[in-house]
Amino acid sequence: MGKRVVITGVPGVGKTTVIDGTKEKLKEENIDYTSINFGTCMFEVACEQGKVKNRDEMRKLDQMEQKELQKTAAQLIAKIQDNVIVDTHCTVSTPGGYLPGLPSWVLQEMKPDMVILVETDVDQILMRRMKDDTRERDTEGYISIKDHQDYNRFMAAAYSMYTGCTVKIIKNQDFLLEKSIEEMMDILR
Ligand code: AP5
Repeated sequence: MGKRVVITGVPGVGKTTVIDGTKEKLKEENIDYTSINFGTCMFEVACEQGKVKNRDEMRKLDQMEQKELQKTAAQLIAKIQDNVIVDTHCTVSTPGGYLPGLPSWVLQEMKPDMVILVETDVDQILMRRMKDDTRERDTEGYISIKDHQDYNRFMAAAYSMYTGCTVKIIKNQDFLLEKSIEEMMDILR
């Protein structure tokens, strides 16, 4: 069984960018990771079931439907035996409040070795979201994004208590993407 690393961060913080850069550089050292986007796994199942038309609709689904999608995605990911990076969320901001991204039934399936929180300054996240017109982002202000980022730390601590996984925080600041990638590589080697 390979390493299981869960990488999280509020939407737009740049976690997928850091993951892609890290995977590419690790490959040059013959270290392979399969990366799975948890949201894509859920989205494919939700589309097959005719529940959504785009990925941003998923967080507005009924709570039970989101839980079922989470469980199916976790079961699919649990089958992977290689080193795996799971690109997902500590918590998802839904109309009914924060939904845990890694509730007990997901953690029991995935059994992560490590949870990484990708963070940066809130004003940078706001700017990155504003520039991305491919998505239907919720309109969120500074305090709301800050609260979400803070809440994710509390939840990561809970996941760590539950599974014994470690928690690492990586900053992904403007103009310092290479530094974030280097830091991520050190952990994943
Ligand atoms: P997901 O696909 O994870 O979407 P997301 O959170 O919106 O993630 P993004 O890909 O938009 O943001 P990112 O942080 O990866 O940033 P990116 O690298 O693109 O999830 C979709 C949906 O799935 C969720 O809404 C939810 O409904 C569902 N879901 C997922 N997991 C779930 C779970 N566990 N339980 C329940 N539901 C779940 O970068 C953003 C921009 O920033 C880019 O333009 C990039 O170029 C730029 N950028 C990045 N780094 C830097 C830098 N250092 N400097 C300057 N610009 C940078």
